[in-house]
Amino acid sequence: MDEALRPTPDATWVLEHDGYNVLTESALESRFALSNGFLGVRASRAVSRGPTWVSWLGYVKWASWPRCYVAGLFDRPNTEPPVPALVPVADWSRVRIVLDGQPQLLADGKTLLGCRRLDMHRGLLLGELIHRSTNGITVEGDELRLVSLADRAAAMQILRFTLDRDGIDVKLEATFAMAGMGMEPERMEPNLGAWRAEGSGKGVAMAGHATLRVGGAVLVPERPFSLRWIWQWRSIAGQRVELDRLVAVARADMPGFDPAPVAAAALERNRVLGWRGMLAAHTTAWRERWQAGDIVIEGDEEMQRAVRFAVYHLTSAANPQDERVSVGARALTGDAYFGHVFWDTEIYLLPFYTAVWPEAARAMLMYRFHTLPAARAKAAAMGFKGALYAWESADTGEETTPARVVGPDGAMVDILTGSMEIHISADIAYAVWQYWRVTGDDAFMRDAGVEILIETARFWVSRAVAEADGARHIRHVIGPDEYHEDVDDNAYTNVLARWNLARALDAVAMLRARRPEHAAAMAVKLRLADSELDDWRDAAARIPTGLDPATGRYEQFAGYDRREPIDLRQYADRKVPIDVVLGRARTQASQVVKQADVVALIGLLPEAFPGAAAEANFRYYEPRCAHGSSLSAGMHALVAARLGDTAMALRFLRQAAEADLEPDPNSAGGIRIAGLGGVWQAVVLGFAGLDLGGEAISLKPQLPPGWRRLSFAVRWRGRALHLGITGRAVRVALTEGPATAIAIAGTTHQLSPGAALEVNVPTRVS
Ligand code: BGC
Repeated sequence: MDEALRPTPDATWVLEHDGYNVLTESALESRFALSNGFLGVRASRAVSRGPTWVSWLGYVKWASWPRCYVAGLFDRPNTEPPVPALVPVADWSRVRIVLDGQPQLLADGKTLLGCRRLDMHRGLLLGELIHRSTNGITVEGDELRLVSLADRAAAMQILRFTLDRDGIDVKLEATFAMAGMGMEPERMEPNLGAWRAEGSGKGVAMAGHATLRVGGAVLVPERPFSLRWIWQWRSIAGQRVELDRLVAVARADMPGFDPAPVAAAALERNRVLGWRGMLAAHTTAWRERWQAGDIVIEGDEEMQRAVRFAVYHLTSAANPQDERVSVGARALTGDAYFGHVFWDTEIYLLPFYTAVWPEAARAMLMYRFHTLPAARAKAAAMGFKGALYAWESADTGEETTPARVVGPDGAMVDILTGSMEIHISADIAYAVWQYWRVTGDDAFMRDAGVEILIETARFWVSRAVAEADGARHIRHVIGPDEYHEDVDDNAYTNVLARWNLARALDAVAMLRARRPEHAAAMAVKLRLADSELDDWRDAAARIPTGLDPATGRYEQFAGYDRREPIDLRQYADRKVPIDVVLGRARTQASQVVKQADVVALIGLLPEAFPGAAAEANFRYYEPRCAHGSSLSAGMHALVAARLGDTAMALRFLRQAAEADLEPDPNSAGGIRIAGLGGVWQAVVLGFAGLDLGGEAISLKPQLPPGWRRLSFAVRWRGRALHLGITGRAVRVALTEGPATAIAIAGTTHQLSPGAALEVNVPTRVS
């Protein structure tokens, strides 16, 4: 085997899967997906793909779901529900091998080896295949596929194989299957296709190039159609066949813009590099990202691999070069949620990007800045001021939550999140503030962040109207716990709304103090009067929080405590979500929580839970949570770790980490990227106890049993740091940037460039 096609030798960098199972194939394709934040390719097999769908008595399940996505390529397809969705582009990795007139199909003959490996270190999908056809011919080969991190427009595939017989008529077809599905073709040339989405007018071009060598000699293909190559020859046993295929993709956001020359240029520059050059640039780009983002856990190999899996997908999902897109709930790895962006990005993903890859975080926040007009329009349409961001957002930022979907029992269910799950506006404000605190990116704050803070604050002020009791209630909402719809005064929403207002006031004051001319221009542009700020102060003080000062506990929403308590331990063995077991009506009338809600608030705003309040709230809500969302376990792990309950934290961390690593059919629609962001947060913000939001970096480590050493890198205000935590000590190195202070377990130390700081502190609770 060529060295390039060999996986990284350390098993903690490689996920391996041998065999084929119709029920879990689609989840595997998500798990092993490749992406660079612009292109995303599911890990479908290239040869002998297997069925793409399976039907059993009245319902259809997807088996293989070969898809390539382009970030931001949205259209409103003619489907139900009629909301914008990512339009898949051509499935460019498929290869057909026909031997003596018989196509090699999984269903026929015998697959002796069908191994796929995700080499996370190098960002590669590697395959090995030994297949014996019904007429006894054995194909033995391997494959390498990548989506370039060095040049996001480009992807490639190397496929090699031998046959064990002489004199077989071999036909090999390299196709771009399903090209332009759901789009109108605009250009079809031998090496290039361009399509236009009917509704949105967005365009995409794909350029391709393929070379086949048989026994080292280049074979001339037939070119019957655009982006299709067919080669035919007579086999010699053991003779090496090598297919190199290169693809380049460009997106056009405007109807008048032709993406074809951009794709053609990307193809050309990568052709010049050649596949080894492309591979080298790609693996170098991955190495750099791992230097910035790797987490090393010594003493727990399983968690080590799981955490790398999380960082692998987080790294794959982002594109710091594109401010017009953000990361969808399943990133670019599957169809579920149509590529829509939720609060997942700001609350579950941004902490990772902000600390590890600020350029990517900035681009995602700029996406929110560019979609402010749509958020303003949504608020206005509902009769409010300022900006109410879409609960589900595609390219324009308009609300794209479906109005109705088919529920688990087959009946249509109205979806209220689009109008009621308004905490999204405060979540975005929260991420803006955190990004600025951690990076010190004043230019972003001045040019985009302040405006987001002001407009979201304005929304809360108009939404929270004073009532007879003197309070400014926020009624008819859905909090993160979506089992309870149309509730009043959700603590998560209200506390974050108050916080949003307070930070908007801070931001305006800061801008006035530091950049008065800019503040004056902003006041004119946004028609911001001083009297308005008084109203913000009033709302920040009078929005009810649900806090009981006697117990320090927040009531999740008005009337929550009076709902039916349910002992979830009695349902521990259930195989389906609790709302399916109990039924929607009973779930809504109960205290069962879908996912971290008040617990998420503890995670985000620890200052709102002084003294024993965090413990009191966590112990109350944790047993009431049914974890009906993949977002939940990671947030519980983070909070439990901060509270020093490392055993419970580790249990939740494993739950969060396993979600997409186990053969869970729920990942068929794509990996749950927010859950993976939660894994990173639980380890770095939880077990390491890192806080980058203050005036100095602070670390309060509490390692779980079994972990000998935890180390990782972060960036903070123009500096790069490397932190290593063992059971007895913390070691910090400032690898880039000026001297600074760091608080370790409550004591402040000075960090100088180049010199590592080593502090002996106990980092285990028990
Ligand atoms: C969760 C939401 C989440 C969405 C997308 C839902 O099941 O309850 O919090 O934003 O999935 O991941």
